[in-house]
Amino acid sequence: MPSMRDQATEIMRRSDDLAAFTTVEGQITRPYGTTALLDAQAQLDTWMRAAGMATRTDTVGNLIGRYEADTGAPNAKTFLVGGHFDSVVDAGRYDGTLGILTGIAVVAHLHDSGQRLPFAIAVVAFADEEGNRFHTSFLGSSPVAGLWDPAWLALEDDAGVTLEDGIRSIGGDPHAIVADAIDPETVLGFIEVHIEQGPVLQDRNLPVAAVSSITGSLRATIEFIGVAGHAGTVPMNLRKDALAGAAELVLAVEAIGTSESDLVATVGKLESSPGASNVISGYAHLTLDLRHPDPVVRTRAFTSVRAAAEAIAERRKLGLVWTDSPSFAETPCDARLTDLLRTAIAEEGIEPLSLFSGAGHDVITMANVGPVTMMFVRCRDGISHNPAESIEEPDVEVALRVLLRFLLDVDDTDFG
Ligand code: HGY
Ligand code: MN
Ligand code: MN
Repeated sequence: MPSMRDQATEIMRRSDDLAAFTTVEGQITRPYGTTALLDAQAQLDTWMRAAGMATRTDTVGNLIGRYEADTGAPNAKTFLVGGHFDSVVDAGRYDGTLGILTGIAVVAHLHDSGQRLPFAIAVVAFADEEGNRFHTSFLGSSPVAGLWDPAWLALEDDAGVTLEDGIRSIGGDPHAIVADAIDPETVLGFIEVHIEQGPVLQDRNLPVAAVSSITGSLRATIEFIGVAGHAGTVPMNLRKDALAGAAELVLAVEAIGTSESDLVATVGKLESSPGASNVISGYAHLTLDLRHPDPVVRTRAFTSVRAAAEAIAERRKLGLVWTDSPSFAETPCDARLTDLLRTAIAEEGIEPLSLFSGAGHDVITMANVGPVTMMFVRCRDGISHNPAESIEEPDVEVALRVLLRFLLDVDDTDFG
């Protein structure tokens, strides 16, 4: 039977294998609704079945592997373990996939040792968490958690393809998505193992930590509409330069983001057209991602950015279109499950640290169907959303040991 060390080695290898599924050669770029995503899904399906799970895909494209409970527990509930297998543009190889691969490895361990628990385990591979293509948040887990909003079908990617067509392109039925919801009565809990994406564990010399809560975010796309013109002939005072307005807003966002502690505000994308060196910008489009754990601070800062955009547009005589994007509220992890995770960490001889997450995760949506928690795994220099993302195999082994211990310690009568 493979040891936990062997399982960790396999996870490192599988992370490399998944990295090969990309829409852009030389990168890991795996957005929703692409062949690369479907190929990754097929690979995960093979690994899940080899680990003793029965698999299915739901309408939005999530893959769910199920390892049944002990036969002596006919009305057993299900503990969900998971992560996401889409990626940001030019991503690292562990963000999201680590939660799926650790889930598969722990089930493989139980299967190989002929062990079943008093509850079923479902390893859930969410088809879209990052939402980079259709400007969504938690597209995969939202329907599962009963939070699907049919208005999202009209969301468009940058090429004007609607989410409705994107769902169809991977074989889903956009109007049947509501059926992806799982019955909260059947759910015992949800845990995701994820890289920390920050430097604290490295600084503290710890391999893993429990997560206490996840920050909330507000997001928008902002368009400035100016007038394209000749860069040589239109005097500076007669221009309606959309890119200059957008540039001013980028700096306003940075200033607002630095105005309060724990506030972060980012323009991650800025595009201008027509996009030629001798043409004044007639149109600019940018994204805003603003986060703070306190909704009052978050809303105040978001309102300030909007006021700044309006003032810039008015002064520069630009058109302005502000569109709110799906955002997420701050979410505490379940105290009892997180205590259980901390206990499992301590039982492995590790200081049971709790960290707050500044990144969004599917536990936010999954909290709608049951108690949730997360485990963070140390990553080198806290680098993430970057191809340099890196983790160490011994830390993965620790995460597997803790996850197994945690699942063995979950008492279905307490959480049922
Ligand atoms: O944006 C986030 O926080 C996450 O990585 N999707
Ligand atoms: Mn991410
Ligand atoms: Mn992630």
